Amino acid sequence: MKVAVVGTGYVGLVTGTCFAETGNTVTCIDIDEKKVESLNNGKITIYEPGLEALFERNIKQNRLHFTTDLKEGIEGAKVIFLALPTPPGEDGSADLKYILKVADDLGPLLKDYAVIVDKSTVPVGTAEKVTAKIKQNAKVDFDVVSNPEFLREGVAVEDFMKPDRVVVGTRSEKAKKIMDMLYAPLVRQGNPVIYMDEKSAELTKYAANSFLATKITFMNEIANMCELLGADVDAVRKGVGTDTRIGKRFLFAGIGYGGSCFPKDVQALAKSAQEVNYDFDILNAVMNVNDKQKTKLIPQIKNYFAGDLKGKTIALWGLSFKPYTDDIREAPALYNIDELVKAGAKVQAYDPEAMENVKGQIGDKIVYCDDQYSALENADALLIATEWPVFRTPDFDRVHSALKNKVIFDGRNLYNPDDMGELGFAYYSIGRTTING
Ligand code: UDX
Repeated sequence: MKVAVVGTGYVGLVTGTCFAETGNTVTCIDIDEKKVESLNNGKITIYEPGLEALFERNIKQNRLHFTTDLKEGIEGAKVIFLALPTPPGEDGSADLKYILKVADDLGPLLKDYAVIVDKSTVPVGTAEKVTAKIKQNAKVDFDVVSNPEFLREGVAVEDFMKPDRVVVGTRSEKAKKIMDMLYAPLVRQGNPVIYMDEKSAELTKYAANSFLATKITFMNEIANMCELLGADVDAVRKGVGTDTRIGKRFLFAGIGYGGSCFPKDVQALAKSAQEVNYDFDILNAVMNVNDKQKTKLIPQIKNYFAGDLKGKTIALWGLSFKPYTDDIREAPALYNIDELVKAGAKVQAYDPEAMENVKGQIGDKIVYCDDQYSALENADALLIATEWPVFRTPDFDRVHSALKNKVIFDGRNLYNPDDMGELGFAYYSIGRTTING
C-alpha cells in the first residue's frame, strides 16, 4: 500500500519506518528542509533503539522516502497519517494549528479517496474539525480517522510492531477495511484492533496516559507516606501489584513522571474537562503532586548540608526523563538542576544520551562529564535522576572514594538501602528507609 506520513518527529518517523518495514511504500513529509535533507542522506534525526537499522534497510530497499513537498508526498497515497505536534497552548489546551494548517493544505491536493489519520494526541472533536477543514476544498471523497499512538520512547519500535492493541476511531466501513489491511501484520498474534467512534478514540489516548500518570502518582504518594510511617514502598508495591486488578507495571515510585506525553496529556485533559464545566479533581491533584515530587530530594540534600549548598558540588547521574532516550522534555533532572544552582551549588552531570540536548537548552549552567565517574570528582554528594542500567551496578568502591561526603540521593530507588549502609554510604531514596551513614 502507498502510505504518506506528514510530520517526521518522533511518532511520524517511527510510524513511517515501521510501515515501510511491513512492505508499504512510505513517503514522509516535513516542512523542515534540514531534517528532510538529513533523512534523505540516510542520517536518522532521533535516537530510538532499533529504529536506525529499520530506517537504513527500508531506504536501501526504496520503500522509505522523504520530501518537503506535500503534493508530491501524498501522490497516490491511500492512507495519509498526520503526526504533527500538538504543543500545549498558553492555557494548557492542545494547540491544533499545525494539524489544521495541513488539513487546509490537503483538501485541494487530494485526487482520489484517501483515509486521513490523526496519529497525534488530539482533543476530542479534532477529527470533526479536520474533516471540516479538508471538506472546504476537497473535490473527492475521504475519511478522517482517529488512530492514537501508544508507543513508549525507548521501546517505540517494539511497541509499534507488537502493540497491545490498536485503537481506530471511525464509523466508515471503507476506512475500516484499509486500516485493517495496514495493521494486519502487526496484530497477527491476535492482539485486537479496537474500532470505535472518532471521539471515543480521541478520549482513549488521554484516558490511558492520564490513568498511567495517576497510577504512578498514587504510588509516589504511598511512598511519601511510607517514609513518614516507616514502611517500605518496595514491599507495598509488590503486595498491591500482584493483585491482577491493579497490575505490576507503572507502580515504581520515584521523583515523578516527565516526558513529552504524560505532563502534556494530563494538562490537556484537565483543560478539556474545564471547557465542559467538569472539575476533573483527580487530574489537578496528579499535576500538583507530580510537581512537588520532582524536587522532593532537594530539601533532604539541603538538610544534609545544614541548609547551605553554596560552594558544594553535586554529581548528577541521569538527565533524560527516563532511560533509553535522549529526550529531556519535562525531565525531573532539569528541575533539580534549577533548584541546586539557585541554592549556589555546582552541578557535574553525566547522561549516556541526553548531554547534547541539555547543553543546547541550558548551556554552561552545569558541567558536562565524560562518564559517570568523572562526574564524581571533587563532588560532595551524588544525586541520581534517571535509572539508566549503567548506574545500577557501578563500582561502589570508586564511588565511595571519589565522593567527599559518602552520600547518595537516589531519585529512582536503584539500590538496596541495607547494602548501601554496609558499603559505608548515607543513602536517601523514595519511600524507603533512610540510611544515615
Ligand atoms: C508514555 C506512554 O507510556 C505511551 O503509551 C504514550 O504514547 C506516550 O507516553 P513515554 O512518555 O515514552 O510513554 O514514557 P513511559 O515509559 O510511559 O514513562 C513516562 C514517565 O513515567 C517517565 O518519566 C517514567 O520515569 C515515569 N514512570 C514510569 C515512573 O515514575 N514510574 C513507573 O512505574 C513508570
